[in-house]
Amino acid sequence: MTTSVPDLRAAAASVRENAYAPYSNFKVGAAMRAKSGKIYVGANVENVSYPVGTCAEEAALAAMIAAGETEVVEAYVIADCAEPIPPCGACRQRLKEFGKDDVTVWLGTTDGAEEATTIGDLLPGAFDTAHMARS
Ligand code: THU
Repeated sequence: MTTSVPDLRAAAASVRENAYAPYSNFKVGAAMRAKSGKIYVGANVENVSYPVGTCAEEAALAAMIAAGETEVVEAYVIADCAEPIPPCGACRQRLKEFGKDDVTVWLGTTDGAEEATTIGDLLPGAFDTAHMARS
């Protein structure tokens, strides 16, 4: 697969327009295709107290969970930037929580560029419950 299915990209691009990013002026949109086939979207939401902000991926995953779904089968993240946006570290761990390692994550720009990666490639060596094992 070298190009994304247009519906997922369109959903991410559309919700990006509703992002609330007056401090960074960097709007991000995310779309998660869940196991049912439904698409859940989210945009970044900033706050005057900067650390309170929410990432687009975080918002989209929260919408999916709120709708009663727990598995992502394809994801799209889009921003207005020169190169496709690499998701932040915390959002890689969030994607890992709800998707298998081979799930495709599309990284796109509003100019139309996009590249495909996977949850496993974005987060090798993810934190896991095995790390909390006690003897
Ligand atoms: N942002 C996201 O929404 N997702 C990412 O993966 C990277 C960063 C947002 C957070 C903040 O509102 C703005 O982009 C600048 O960091």
